[in-house]
Amino acid sequence: MRVVRARNAGACYGVQRALDMALAAVEGGGAASTLGPLIHNPQVVADLAARGVRAVEHVEDVHAGSIVIRSHGVTPAVRRAVASRGLPVVDATCPHVARAQKAAAQLGERLGRVVVVGEAGHPEVEGLVACAREAGAEVFVAACPADLPACLREPVGVVVQTTQTRAALDAVEAALRARGVNPEVKNTICSATSQRQEAAAELAGEVDAIVVVGGRNSSNTTRLADICAASCPRTYHIESPDEVDPAWFAGCESVGVTAGASTPEAHIAAVVARLEAL
Ligand code: F3S
Repeated sequence: MRVVRARNAGACYGVQRALDMALAAVEGGGAASTLGPLIHNPQVVADLAARGVRAVEHVEDVHAGSIVIRSHGVTPAVRRAVASRGLPVVDATCPHVARAQKAAAQLGERLGRVVVVGEAGHPEVEGLVACAREAGAEVFVAACPADLPACLREPVGVVVQTTQTRAALDAVEAALRARGVNPEVKNTICSATSQRQEAAAELAGEVDAIVVVGGRNSSNTTRLADICAASCPRTYHIESPDEVDPAWFAGCESVGVTAGASTPEAHIAAVVARLEAL
């Protein structure tokens, strides 16, 4: 069976940067706390904990060491709470997320109404919503056109969670235009996401089965799995090589491998090795 890796897969610039910054903070024996798991990957989070980077739920849980802001970013209120602790702060907010937050605030201030295309409750989306709200806007979160409230009217700005698909953004924009609402759209999908999505879609159309590696709680990995499943029914989302079931590949001549932006290279390599050994 031929094992083919997607052209673009695995840890993105923002995740790698956050990992490097958190580890640098504990170099030489220091302690650091991340507000929530640093990335949506349980194996990496466990490894970080062993090295002194622990995940906490609330700012109030941190009493010593550095406070690390994750690549997803935080709301302005959490940022203020972090600053008020008087501890060293390591801001690992991905620059793409920071750009999306700025766009949300600017649209919010100028237009007074913002739609955030994304997954309600996701930490990045909460940050975008809060930035637009602090700028005085009425904010709506829509993962798809069905989530748009009937009362929505112009003027309205649209920003997107960095890990959303272009198709989701286009669908929401088209639905608004169909209602006669012309939105001002800032496409804040990050290039790492779109490159991984395009490479996954291309590969899914060429292979008999495809394995998507990454945390089940990772929104960008789940989205890659959805994209693959749309053209390759034998799509399997796994977190570790042990989950690979040889029965999945009966009669397959080729299997693709892709991975979300929160999946480290070592995990992808381990899955590739496991598949090659079959
Ligand atoms: Fe940043 Fe994009 Fe990764 S927003 S964290 S580079 S998926």
